[in-house]
Amino acid sequence: MWTAAPNPVTNHTGSLLSIDDLSLDQITALLAIAKDLEAEPHSARVQRLAGRIVALLFYESSTRTRTSFELAAKLLGATTTLVSDKSSSIEKGESLHDTGLTLRALGAECIILRSNYSGAPELLARVTGLPVLNAGDGMHEHPSQALLDLRTMLDRLGLPQTIRETTLQGKTIVITGDIRHSRVARSNALLLPRLGARVILCGPPELCPREALSIAPGVEIERDFEQALRQADVAMMLRIQRERLQGLHLDTADYIERYQLSAERLSRCAPRALVMHPGPMVRGLEIDSAVADGPHSAIEQQVRHGLAIRMALLQRALASS
Ligand code: CP
Repeated sequence: MWTAAPNPVTNHTGSLLSIDDLSLDQITALLAIAKDLEAEPHSARVQRLAGRIVALLFYESSTRTRTSFELAAKLLGATTTLVSDKSSSIEKGESLHDTGLTLRALGAECIILRSNYSGAPELLARVTGLPVLNAGDGMHEHPSQALLDLRTMLDRLGLPQTIRETTLQGKTIVITGDIRHSRVARSNALLLPRLGARVILCGPPELCPREALSIAPGVEIERDFEQALRQADVAMMLRIQRERLQGLHLDTADYIERYQLSAERLSRCAPRALVMHPGPMVRGLEIDSAVADGPHSAIEQQVRHGLAIRMALLQRALASS
């Protein structure tokens, strides 16, 4: 069920719970820190968080977000520990509250949380008083993904990394697929219009309900994918989240016919568009392999940028505690 979730209250200056926690100046600063950290020699970089402890608390599967946060912490010299729901006392029923306090008692100074519950990072930050980085909470937000997506867009569109209200003016970003269940769509739809972008959400009503218009003022819905694609500077494709469909019926063949980004459709409707996907992809469903691996695709770059962005977020989180 789609609900317009309120922005949670940040209780720690180093936390990142929602993309709306960050001003454009703060995002510019994070982009600059990410660039500097990427360029810094390893011998200096590894001193930055030496002796600090970062806990990764993952209640949902992840490859990109978990690995990049863990590697980012290690590249900065921090010690990391991973607690996942599959192999911890969470399986025995331990609550988020008690798990957070346990991690804090063991010395964790920052917690990276992925949860299937919207708002869980805000709760954890309140309970522990530690900086919490939201690594995706239910259908709510995925703010670090929005930051790495922004960095990728600016880079590939040749735009300055010092962002303002007009940085993306004249650019149209079409986000297509399972908008209903997508925290990536929500964080991007909150952020990109703040830089002047036009954001079009695209998909059938069962995956892109009218209520999605309430994410941010000015966000539009277009049901006809080709119509949307013809206006796109960026085509951001999303996975169908089968694990969250909960009885919603989806005719896969019809979806492919109407919404798959195929090479033929891309070259006919948006031959100059940048193609993005947060991953994981279902090749052959929302996107064709020829597009995912083709010259328009920024998908691998998105993953690479995740490392630097997450180093910057960790640096910010631990600098303030
Ligand atoms: N984009 C993203 O969040 O991917 P993972 O689920 O693999 O972390």
